[in-house]
Amino acid sequence: MKIRIFDDAARASLAVARIIARQLRVQPASVLGLPTGRTSIPVYKELVRLRPDFSRAQTFNLDEFVGLPAQHRRSFHAFMDRHLFRRVNIAAGHVHFLDGAAKDLDAECALFERAIARAGGMDLLVLGIGANGHIGFNEPAARLPAHTHRARLTAVTRRANAGLFAGKPSMVPREALSMGMATILAARRIVLIATGRSKARAVRAMRSGCITPTVPASFLQLHEDVTLILDRAAAQRR
Ligand code: GLP
Repeated sequence: MKIRIFDDAARASLAVARIIARQLRVQPASVLGLPTGRTSIPVYKELVRLRPDFSRAQTFNLDEFVGLPAQHRRSFHAFMDRHLFRRVNIAAGHVHFLDGAAKDLDAECALFERAIARAGGMDLLVLGIGANGHIGFNEPAARLPAHTHRARLTAVTRRANAGLFAGKPSMVPREALSMGMATILAARRIVLIATGRSKARAVRAMRSGCITPTVPASFLQLHEDVTLILDRAAAQRR
């Protein structure tokens, strides 16, 4: 894993935005994998400011809550519309999202996997990380599903996502759809951003040299092109 440490979250966010913008410059028809979450907000803000050309790009988002249709204001799809898609020149048909309100959720997951394959796989996947070491919605567990799947959210993760739900963890859906570890590891290049002290423990565990499903992000150690973008707080060693 390559590691770049920045003084603060603002600089780390700008670095990630520049990586995405550069990817689009070098390869305008890139297939991007994108995260949601608080950490990604300043990244998208900087990215919008850099005005990259999204006209030929395609995007796949990592995950979505079960039960929320795309237009629901608390869905991850709506989050992405607000923070990025509405502000750049991406074609609506180039945005790919898991539909959390699909009737047949397993079929929806299989469809999503096929759409990624049809697009030629992800060129660049940007990730955040949960304080418990989750990526996407791959929560710590004894076994991790390989492909896009239906995931049960832990209490910690529901609390962490409460911000989108008027601060009420009980309103956060109990389930989500998420890319699996094999889906994630198939991306040609991965950039993970972690900022703030609350992520320091997960970052340490992810880089520990051991791979364990109890820290899903530790599987990134198997990938040959991963860059961690950290601020000082997230890079703290103790
Ligand atoms: C959410 C998302 C993840 C995200 C993580 C961190 O649960 N499913 O993709 O990376 O939590 O979120 P935040 O940046 O708000 O800490």
